[in-house]
Amino acid sequence: MNAIHPNRPPGAPERAEDAAGIDIVGLTKRYLTPKNETFTAIRDVTLRVEPGEFCAIVGPTGCGKSTTLAQVSGLERPSAGSVKVHDQIVDGITNGVSYMFQADALFPWKTVLGNVLIGPVLLGTPKKEATLLARDWLRRVGLAGFEDRYPHQLSGGMRKRVAMAAALINNPRILLMDEPFGALDVQTKAIMQNELLQLWEELRPSVLFITHDLDEAVALADKVVIMTSSPGTIKDVFEIDLPRPRGDVQKIRHEERFLELQGQIWESLKDEVTRAYKQSAGVAA
Ligand SMILES: Nc1ncnc2c1ncn2[C@@H]1O[C@H](COP(=O)(O)OP(=O)(O)O)[C@@H](O)[C@H]1O
Ligand SMILES: [Mg+2]
Repeated sequence: MNAIHPNRPPGAPERAEDAAGIDIVGLTKRYLTPKNETFTAIRDVTLRVEPGEFCAIVGPTGCGKSTTLAQVSGLERPSAGSVKVHDQIVDGITNGVSYMFQADALFPWKTVLGNVLIGPVLLGTPKKEATLLARDWLRRVGLAGFEDRYPHQLSGGMRKRVAMAAALINNPRILLMDEPFGALDVQTKAIMQNELLQLWEELRPSVLFITHDLDEAVALADKVVIMTSSPGTIKDVFEIDLPRPRGDVQKIRHEERFLELQGQIWESLKDEVTRAYKQSAGVAA
């Protein structure tokens, strides 16, 4: 039995050490525009996320970050190149992968408890067991007492907590997060970042975390990947050697090494942001 997850749902990985790596090789995605033209959203993206690693991808708006994640999740199929999770080619939704979107992907007609227990139930856990597990997860994300509320009765930060509990309850080997805290106010964002780091330390999934917030990337990740402006490809990869556990993300931002890394990475990112801005201004003009 597992110390972290005594009530592990069937289909979920056995142990946190089962975290899987992600191998993205030559990944290209082309879309057909409404005018029937081919549009290349990402081009030749190659990237490896080690098992248990926290990898952040930063790039300007529209550069193809969400597109990259959609190919890794199996929700979309690459036009060229490949994605492997745990040495297996991704072909549809993969077991052990959880996805957290920027928008709250909660079922509005289900209670908080109902939203969190659906994962294990779909994986075959009996409802009673899933309910106990979901209650435990809601307690862990600070929502004990809110089980019977509906999403519209919660604040933005609380909805994020529900989404986080729903993503983590299956103890995913891979956690894909697409600007999960982008819509939150600064204080709530910092609280959620700290909570995410704590839970990640406990469960150690491999994380692919997309953000346009460079400070967030440096504070959370082991590795920060910079994407070019559209069509997105990998420009630079920076190892973040800040010690773990990171502690309070708001404090770490003032440390010398943080500022040094942040400065170096910004040098790489700023040209892409400027280029993306000019591209979109050109379209708008
Ligand atoms: N289904 C689609 N059909 C056509 N174009 C798309 C589709 N999805 C994304 N795109 C385009 O691909 C580019 C990259 O989008 P996206 O990955 O969402 O960027 P990001 O997440 O970095 O802001 C954008 O120009 C977007 O309009
Ligand atoms: Mg996006």
